[in-house]
Amino acid sequence: MPFSKLSPNDYFSIDRFSRENAVLFKENWIFTGLVFPLKGRKHYGLSLGNIEILLQLDGYGKPRAFLNVCSHRQAQLCEPGLHEGPIRCPYHSWVYDQRGVPTGIPSKKCFPEVVANPENYQLTEFHCETVGQFIFVRISSTGPDLRTYLGNEYSFLERISHGMQGLLDEFIGDVDANWKILIENSLEGYHVPSVHSRTFGSVAGMSDEALAPEFYLDDPLHTYLEHAADNEWLKRFSRTEQKIGKWPHRFEYYTHHFIFPNLTVTSFMGYSYHIQYFNPLSPLKTRVHSRTVGVDISDSTIFGKKLIDQIHSDSNKFTRKVFNEDAEICQKVQMGVNNAIRSAILGVEIEDRISHFQSAYMRKI
Ligand code: FES
Ligand SMILES: [Fe+2]
Repeated sequence: MPFSKLSPNDYFSIDRFSRENAVLFKENWIFTGLVFPLKGRKHYGLSLGNIEILLQLDGYGKPRAFLNVCSHRQAQLCEPGLHEGPIRCPYHSWVYDQRGVPTGIPSKKCFPEVVANPENYQLTEFHCETVGQFIFVRISSTGPDLRTYLGNEYSFLERISHGMQGLLDEFIGDVDANWKILIENSLEGYHVPSVHSRTFGSVAGMSDEALAPEFYLDDPLHTYLEHAADNEWLKRFSRTEQKIGKWPHRFEYYTHHFIFPNLTVTSFMGYSYHIQYFNPLSPLKTRVHSRTVGVDISDSTIFGKKLIDQIHSDSNKFTRKVFNEDAEICQKVQMGVNNAIRSAILGVEIEDRISHFQSAYMRKI
């Protein structure tokens, strides 16, 4: 029976939090968003650890990441979230092009040097790489490329991106708990019967204990699981499925992928994906960003379309309920951890993904 590698202090100390921002969220590739919502001259503000950044697509459709600070007198350029049009500073209205170069400057003649060499005044840019629809940013100037960093998750993200389109749901929720408490909560299903008994009780399609989830822990950083769909349920579902149609990457299980340090991607059968990341705001507060993304479904009947819409809308409600239940319990965990005087206990197998996360964390911090 292993004990937690993290001490209670690691879940609330300000020093630990500063170290995470200085190392973990700078040196690793951090998920920042999806490509398709940025199409058509938009920009997107978000925080990455304690750094405010913004994303936009350049003239070739390649995502680029910049510090959210104006080159002129350093106003923040945009609020978090998606914005239409080019980046325009709210202070003196400098406008930046798709490469982050200031090209629209009011009272030009007062800034001869900038007008002559605008490239020299480009917004501070960070490493930004994409796999399929998934955009990752690395603040540190050195480190492995994205493919190396992601290992087998690279091909997973590439595969599931085929046909990905349309946000079915998106919400942001703040939880009064350390981000690692939320990650650890997402890495085990042990709490499901007690925390989600009412919500999960009504979910069809998952097999019972006999086909318990299979864990994949080979990568030093990332882990995933696959939990087979119930056979009888699948047989019944296949009749309706013919009406729903075909989608690009279909599988017969629930899968939960954790991409170190703070991204989870889950799906049941591949007809939609739930993408969630956990952004630490302070040692005791985490912003959870949750998106459900649909995929292209072909050959569907009118009835099938209605059916899949219904499945999506049920699952959006379900996701929010589960989120609230998890948020509530994680806040209780934080209160307990604040008072704890020894390390936590981790179950064999059932909590192996947490042990794995903690090993990765200790190596990287
Ligand atoms: S600070 Fe941005 S235009 Fe002046
Ligand atoms: Fe949960």
